[in-house]
Formats: sequence, structure tokens, C-alpha cells
Amino acid sequence: MYVCLCKAVTDKAIKQKVAEGVSTMRELKMCTGLGSQCGKCTCQAQQILNCELAQISATHFALAKPAA
Ligand code: FES
Repeated sequence: MYVCLCKAVTDKAIKQKVAEGVSTMRELKMCTGLGSQCGKCTCQAQQILNCELAQISATHFALAKPAA
């Protein structure tokens, strides 16, 4: 699904960037260009970014939890 129509950035591309280490909107904007024209995509992009970061955090927490 396209999140940013102006720069043709998809949700998959955002998720890929997060997997590669992007963790802020500033970094995401710099590496994809999203939000640099009309700006209508930034809210949805932020939601996807937050969701991906939360999933990564939860996964790391589960892996770091000592076995009982
Ligand atoms: S839709 Fe992303 S800048 Fe316009």
C-alpha cells in the first residue's frame, strides 16, 4: 500500500527501513523522501514507524527475558 503518493513510498518500504535501523521520522524522511512535498502522508508514516518500533521492542524484550 502506498503511504506517500508524492514519493511513491509504500508501507513495506517503511518497514524495510525500520528493519535496517531507521528509528525516527527524520531518518525516514531523509532516506525515503516521504513527507517532502504535500506532507499528507506524515501522520500515517509515523503510525507505521511507531508500530514497527513497538514490535521490534517487544521481540527484543521477549528474547531477553530469562527462561523460567
Ligand atoms: S503524500 Fe507524501 S509528501 Fe505528499
